[in-house]
Amino acid sequence: MLRDLIDFADMSKSEWDAMFSLALEIERNPAEYAEIAKGKILASMFYEPSTRTKFSFQSAMLRLGGNIIGFDGTSATSVSKGESVKDTARIVSSYADIIVVRSPVKGTAEEIANQSDVPVINAGDGTHLHPTQTMVDLFTIGYLTHSHEITGKKIGICGDLLYGRTVHSLLSALAWYGNNEYYFISSPSLEVPQEYADKLVPRNKINITRSLDCIDELDILYMTRIQKERFPSEADYLREKGAYVLNRETLSRAKDDLIILHPLPRNDELAEDIDDDPRAKYFLQAKLGVPLRMALIATLLGKI
Ligand code: NCD
Repeated sequence: MLRDLIDFADMSKSEWDAMFSLALEIERNPAEYAEIAKGKILASMFYEPSTRTKFSFQSAMLRLGGNIIGFDGTSATSVSKGESVKDTARIVSSYADIIVVRSPVKGTAEEIANQSDVPVINAGDGTHLHPTQTMVDLFTIGYLTHSHEITGKKIGICGDLLYGRTVHSLLSALAWYGNNEYYFISSPSLEVPQEYADKLVPRNKINITRSLDCIDELDILYMTRIQKERFPSEADYLREKGAYVLNRETLSRAKDDLIILHPLPRNDELAEDIDDDPRAKYFLQAKLGVPLRMALIATLLGKI
């Protein structure tokens, strides 16, 4: 059966848990998976900039013994000649065995999946969702806490909660767990959209706050970048820029076992002076993107 990963309806919590177990197994025994995608081709269709997501998908495919093709931006493809997403999708799906898509427009990955005869993975569609980043986020938490279950935790999510697709995705997945307390830390104009907060309301406690003063309470702090490219104007962005900065001073009040995550790239919200702090886990998080995406590719290719 053809499987895609476009949104949270595509895979159940138990399938995500299986993915985390497989990713851990791959991380521990990479040699056993080094030829699993031999002869297969991954196409990356990136209509929007990316470093970690694109390279970790490509690295994952190469580490599984497969090959990669793709485009970054559309200037060198027939999209610049006016080719539709639909036509591009149809063609790419006949050249590859699995497709990874990033687009500034909500719904592009789904549109491509509708045209494709091979599995399609949503690597971010506008401000909507970024499910594989969330898989990486949850895998990192499980890796550090030695448990797939997230419960009884105090979780802060800080920054651009309005436009950040990693936040929207993370909250969609966190709705699978209960008995947590959330602190949504943002300015009034970048608050989390109600539809995502509502997913958590029934089984969790929610606090809306404007400052990082709650840091001493937290077990997990998910920092995010203000999404400059989504703002209506430069002036609107400048009003928000620099509102939240996690630095050594702020961190001095946090618990010793706080887990600090960030999907990256960072701007000024994570001061470099905390990079060496053992609580800073965002580089580990980026690194774990490779075994996690190896697990996802292997699963969607039907190799597991
Ligand atoms: C994020 C994205 O593209 O949504 N980056 C990523 O994939 N690691 C976050 C961001 O751009 O701020």
